[in-house]
Amino acid sequence: MAVAVDSAREVLAQNWVDSPGYTRPTGDGLYPHQWNWDSAFAALGWAVVDPARAYRELRSLTGAQGRDGCIPHIAFSPQPQHYFPSADWWPARTSHDGRRISAISQPPVAATCLRLLFDRHPDEGAARELLAPLVRWHAWWLADRDPDRLGEPTVIHPWESGRDNAPDWDRPMNRLPELDVAALRQDTRWVGIDHRPSHKDYARYAWLVRAIGKAHSPQTGLARYGPFRVLDPGTSSILAAACADLAHLATDLGETRVAELSFAHADKVERALRHRANADGIAPAVDLVDGEAVQAYGAGAALNLLRARLPAAAVDALERLTTEDADALAAPTGVRSWPKCDGAAYRPDSYWRGPTWASITWLCALGLERHGRDDAAATLRARMVDAARTEGEREYCDGDTGEGLGTHNFTWTAALTLWSS
Ligand code: GLC
Repeated sequence: MAVAVDSAREVLAQNWVDSPGYTRPTGDGLYPHQWNWDSAFAALGWAVVDPARAYRELRSLTGAQGRDGCIPHIAFSPQPQHYFPSADWWPARTSHDGRRISAISQPPVAATCLRLLFDRHPDEGAARELLAPLVRWHAWWLADRDPDRLGEPTVIHPWESGRDNAPDWDRPMNRLPELDVAALRQDTRWVGIDHRPSHKDYARYAWLVRAIGKAHSPQTGLARYGPFRVLDPGTSSILAAACADLAHLATDLGETRVAELSFAHADKVERALRHRANADGIAPAVDLVDGEAVQAYGAGAALNLLRARLPAAAVDALERLTTEDADALAAPTGVRSWPKCDGAAYRPDSYWRGPTWASITWLCALGLERHGRDDAAATLRARMVDAARTEGEREYCDGDTGEGLGTHNFTWTAALTLWSS
């Protein structure tokens, strides 16, 4: 265990950027900016090593907030970087703290990470400062991104779900025009194309970025009429948990207004998910352009586990899928991003189409623990930590062989290993 912990500490230290104070997903250049959910997970690693820095990480994340309340998926480094698409591809937006930012968001895990951090290392002043930007961000998801009052956000780009090339998005992606950007891509300098989204995927991601840039109303308008519009049970369940976590933290801090608002937000999302769930209680991914639900249960559906009011039968089913069913999501290194039994789409070594990721495994463990399934949660955490010990802090692991893949020295693998060890 000591080796995994020592090397995880080193990874965090290497990936740290002192101004304004955040951890890059990797130090090798593949991801040279601040990414939203990566940064939130990084705070949990710092909580173990240096709690003051954990609060600093979350402060820089909220410092990336845009004027509309959105905390973006990327806050760009001002130094020139080999990264595509660069800040110029996005509308000219700057954050509260003056950085260029993208115009989409990412799964809002920050409030959950803040609550966990506060429970281990209470710093009332630092935590209180984070409440207002976080509640504003949650409100943004439920207003600007929910024009039709579904009670949960509409996701307008696959990057926003955090699971870029997940098979959940194949149908809506197949409808999009393409913009050939193969020659502009930088990611393949560091990782072979076989382990990255395809050029076809990138052609559609890039077209969609352009569409967002040209839209008259990039948030509400695209959420209502955009060419890519989905309900992601992963993002929505993470939001439900984050709102509840912020409410509990605000209660502890005596901030009743934030607590009331956040309990109301959590309740709204929980109700929306329950209302549209399948007969088994699990909410699937939905293509909002034609209302079609995705049949297979991948990592996004597994994250229903984060819903506080998920019916017990659904908890049972997801516990089986994620920890026991080796043909579905249960792999020796954690929770697969896509079920092995869906032979048409499953690719064990291809990014979000099969591999296990520490983030998903850890979030499923958190959900299981909160439903009182301590043994199952411990099993998942042990698989995640073992994978880091044998493979190092890789970006993800092959869904069949467990081999570490993608980039090395990956921040959230290190951070979640530290937090769980
Ligand atoms: C990729 C992942 C996303 C992550 C980002 C930075 O785009 O799909 O989830 O946040 O890389 O690590």
